[in-house]
Amino acid sequence: MKTAWPLLWSRRKKWVIASLASLCIIALILEGGNSGGGGGGGAGNNDEDDDDGYTGDGYAGSLRWPNPESIKGVIPNNAIYVTLDPTLVRRDDGKLFLLTTRAQHGSTWTADSLYGPWEYQGDTLDEQGGAPSVHRVGNTWAMFHNQHFDYSTVGVSHPESSSPFHDASIVVQTSDTLEPKSWVRQGRLNITWAMKYNVLDAALLTVNSTTAARDGTTGQRQQQHLLTFGSYQEGLFQVPLANPPFKLADNAMSLMTHLERNTTAVQPRDQTEAAYIFARKGWYYLFYSSGRCCPEHSPQTGQLQWMRYDQAYRVVVCRSRRPGGGYVDREGRDCLTENGGTVVLASHDEIFAPGGQGVLDDPEAGLILYYHYARYDMARDKVDDTRKGFLFGWNKLRFDRDEWPYIDGA
Ligand SMILES: *[C@@H]1O[C@H](CO)[C@@H](O)[C@H](O)[C@H]1NC(C)=O
Ligand SMILES: *[C@@H]1O[C@H](CO)[C@@H](O)[C@H](O)[C@H]1NC(C)=O
Ligand SMILES: *[C@@H]1O[C@H](CO)[C@@H](O)[C@H](O)[C@H]1NC(C)=O
Repeated sequence: MKTAWPLLWSRRKKWVIASLASLCIIALILEGGNSGGGGGGGAGNNDEDDDDGYTGDGYAGSLRWPNPESIKGVIPNNAIYVTLDPTLVRRDDGKLFLLTTRAQHGSTWTADSLYGPWEYQGDTLDEQGGAPSVHRVGNTWAMFHNQHFDYSTVGVSHPESSSPFHDASIVVQTSDTLEPKSWVRQGRLNITWAMKYNVLDAALLTVNSTTAARDGTTGQRQQQHLLTFGSYQEGLFQVPLANPPFKLADNAMSLMTHLERNTTAVQPRDQTEAAYIFARKGWYYLFYSSGRCCPEHSPQTGQLQWMRYDQAYRVVVCRSRRPGGGYVDREGRDCLTENGGTVVLASHDEIFAPGGQGVLDDPEAGLILYYHYARYDMARDKVDDTRKGFLFGWNKLRFDRDEWPYIDGA
């Protein structure tokens, strides 16, 4: 999940204005003291009340995609337009845990039902953490999240490695309960800094294989942990992790594969990030977000400016028979070499810039695609500033006769 987003940058006490020339997204960050509610620190508050929302271009009003399932009570949200980047899991006692980016430390919401009511539980961590991705690992849970890192401490001297757009790292935490503040830091994954990716938006895939024993008996059941990550630079990458998956596998960097890239993307448009791989019936489905996640502060006026409908985040899928590459879209275009990618959810009506998605196979609703989105005010034809921040949404995920996924409003 999620996002070029904004790692939360702790060195400044105000929104940091990102130069559009560099990657996508904003480095919004707030610091200390104000990790809670609306507006965050510094100049963020009033910027959201500007009038620069993009106005209509004919995309609004499309009925092509269903609305999110309705949720009772408060829809989980992050109060500020940074990004939400949800990750969703259900604990054995039936309680759902929704973890999101929010201000500095991430936030945790819980519910007994996907339809709500959802309850805000507070900060997830005591340290900086964005775009969390939580996965069951044996009897515990592992979280992979973004964190800014000072690469000069490990000998990286490239000037861009200290840019808030390109200084991300992925940190692993574990918890037996998923409760806020229960997380135990396992460490930073030692993924080598490179121009071609930013080390963020991780998601774990565990592949099961059974090695055939030489004597013909059933061999050992093995698990291979693969971490997909990236990035507005050159797209999505994957590295193997150790078992348990709390650090890189031996030689992980030399085993890294490149899964996806959109070479026609014009920055900051149509860049890709926030992968989530879901395995089903012998296929690996690579879901990711393409486009701009978040509004950016205009370098001229400092005002928060929304992207156009057709530049906004959308959820895309490619698939392969193997997890480490060979992904193609529904038309058969290669997603690494031919700019392939099939859209499964894009902005429509009031639902704007959906992305940061994941997939959950849940007893209550079956397979679902969950994501964040902003609310578009149709009457005023601009993003609805009265509903601060990104909102959590989900839809049932179905597969057609050719085993391609689509979301279902029924
Ligand atoms: C991190 O990886 C680099 C190689 O990319 C290696 O030189 C270094 O020793 C590793 N550091 C740790 C703490 O494992
Ligand atoms: C591997 O096995 C686990 C446990 O049976 C299952 O939850 C998971 O979906 C499997 N992974 C894949 C990629 O099939
Ligand atoms: C790749 O970028 C092009 C050009 O910006 C865009 O039209 C296309 O939709 C993008 N592809 C995906 C899968 O997002």
